[in-house]
Amino acid sequence: MKLGLLGKGKTGSFLIGVCNDKKIELVVFDSKNPPTAASLKDLDGVISFLPGEAFVSYLPLLLASKLPVVSGSTGFEWPEGVREKIADEKLSWLQANNFALGMAVVRLMIENMGLISKLVPEASFDLHEIHHTKKLDAPSGTALSFKKWSGVEMPITSERTGDVIGIHTMTATTSGEKITLTHEALDRKIFAEGAVWAMERMLESRPSGLIDLHQLLSSHLLGKGLSL
Ligand SMILES: NC(=O)c1ccc[n+]([C@@H]2O[C@H](COP(=O)([O-])OP(=O)(O)OC[C@H]3O[C@@H](n4cnc5c(N)ncnc54)[C@H](OP(=O)(O)O)[C@@H]3O)[C@@H](O)[C@H]2O)c1
Repeated sequence: MKLGLLGKGKTGSFLIGVCNDKKIELVVFDSKNPPTAASLKDLDGVISFLPGEAFVSYLPLLLASKLPVVSGSTGFEWPEGVREKIADEKLSWLQANNFALGMAVVRLMIENMGLISKLVPEASFDLHEIHHTKKLDAPSGTALSFKKWSGVEMPITSERTGDVIGIHTMTATTSGEKITLTHEALDRKIFAEGAVWAMERMLESRPSGLIDLHQLLSSHLLGKGLSL
């Protein structure tokens, strides 16, 4: 397997280590060595840990390459028509705001946490995320995913301090109870491992269209007689 990596910063550099350990051949691109049609030609797939804006700037190139793409880039909106083009051309693309595999379990917890609003209509929710000072987007992509999964409205507050990898805390409060759920990433390696795991599954199963990590995990677990 020969993969391309877009971005070898804080997260991408861990992906280089994961691929080394797994003996996956890797071609690494950054600002000084940007990808081109020619350099993508003999790759099996591309993983992006570029900032969102940079990822968007390479979309035409990535679409033209027809390669499977696994993207962890956050802080961008998909330009109009891209999702449709990926589906129409039966390309295999996956986007995840957080590749920590524990997020699959967190998602289930959050979906259930949102149910409190059905039992106690006045329940209120809030979400606080903490990241390192170099993070470009706020709120984080993971915080936006938490809100989407909960199915309820809530304010999101963002804090930038030190080299914090990522802490997300969602709280549900009623007049007499408080429920708090925290996910803390302890090692950036988890994102790199999750992205490589996803690319390996994508190359095996070649799903069609732009899917998310939950869809990939669900189909993978279904094959093992489990479901999310
Ligand atoms: N989904 C997840 O699980 C997950 C986990 C962690 C982070 N992320 C996301 O991944 C992205 C990267 O985060 P990070 O903390 O690793 O960032 P980072 O340390 O700032 O690294 C960014 C990398 O992108 C390269 N780059 C920037 N602009 C470029 C361009 N126009 N062309 C080519 N290369 C370019 C940089 O190269 P130069 O140094 O040469 O400019 C650098 O190697 C962010 O969107 C972040 O939110 C996602």
